[in-house]
Amino acid sequence: EIDEIPLSLNSAINSYLNCSIDKKIYTDIKRICFIGCGTALHSTLIAKSILRQISPYVDVYADTASEFVYMNYPIEGTLFIAVSQSGETADTLIAVRKIIKSGGKLISICNSPYSTLSRESKLCIFTDAGPEISVASTKAYNCQVAVLSAFCIDFAHKNHYISDIEKKLLFNDLISSCNLAYSALKNENIISTIASLYKNVSSVFYIGRGIDYFVAKEGSLKLKEISYIGSESYASGELKHGSLALIEKNSLVVAFITQPNLIDKMINNLIEVRSRGAKCIVITPFTNRNISSYCEYLLEIPLCNPLFSPILSVIPAQLIAYHFALSKGCDVDKPRNLAKSVTVE
Ligand code: M6R
Repeated sequence: EIDEIPLSLNSAINSYLNCSIDKKIYTDIKRICFIGCGTALHSTLIAKSILRQISPYVDVYADTASEFVYMNYPIEGTLFIAVSQSGETADTLIAVRKIIKSGGKLISICNSPYSTLSRESKLCIFTDAGPEISVASTKAYNCQVAVLSAFCIDFAHKNHYISDIEKKLLFNDLISSCNLAYSALKNENIISTIASLYKNVSSVFYIGRGIDYFVAKEGSLKLKEISYIGSESYASGELKHGSLALIEKNSLVVAFITQPNLIDKMINNLIEVRSRGAKCIVITPFTNRNISSYCEYLLEIPLCNPLFSPILSVIPAQLIAYHFALSKGCDVDKPRNLAKSVTVE
């Protein structure tokens, strides 16, 4: 399914371009609230970050669906966006039913056309990633991020935050980013070597700043889910506030560096963890910035508009999880204790 990402992304973008969203749904929207669980939640955090950059005057939230019912969001003036691969996740359905019952505006984003979520939502955009069988969601995540990115551009344009030309340029950048997914798969050999060398580590730390922090969360979830290695994700600036105490000789750190304005700060974080003995893997497109001298392994991803880098930077992280799980002899598709659709609260 990781290998299917490039093709799936193509379908996802086409699916978005062919769906028609009635402009009326955007009228009088003061805030957007994204909801989802697990990997779907992580895709909404990316959308939140994009929207804050291109629609600055709208309040944006992204919450786990399981907490949504306790949050008492105002219905008036809010557009709710529910994201789910399966469309059967109980927590998401409960939240969605609450929104529908209170007369809230809702758009669902789902991968499964025959699911409960798609049937119960008046407006559902399909991610069209194709059937996803593995419990660990991979291609569905990339497609969620692509569709949500397209939604963010559209929303910003329809609300006059960006001009026609800016919309066109951003869409072109989004499509080119999706077309670069093939190149992000090319790190597989080195990742397989890293996995065989480090498969016995007890924990891995994923770090990033800004939008990269949310990709770090997804990378960390994927690793623990299928390899059973304890892993945590941190906003790099938080390290000094406690987590740095966990770094010791040979701790493994995976750092995402895709935002040009954050390179120097991230290099400082690499220096910080390496001086405590950590070994670092960096996922970045910036091969000309001497980052390789601050890490043990550099996994290069293609350069794209930094807003859309999460579509690509997650791919090496998905491969890291896959190869660590393989090296440890784990079933990469059916991890223990987990189900593909979580149909109970
Ligand atoms: O089908 P959904 O997208 O609603 O599922 C939500 C989560 O259960 C799911 O993303 C879970 O976190 C995955 N197993 C992660 O790989």
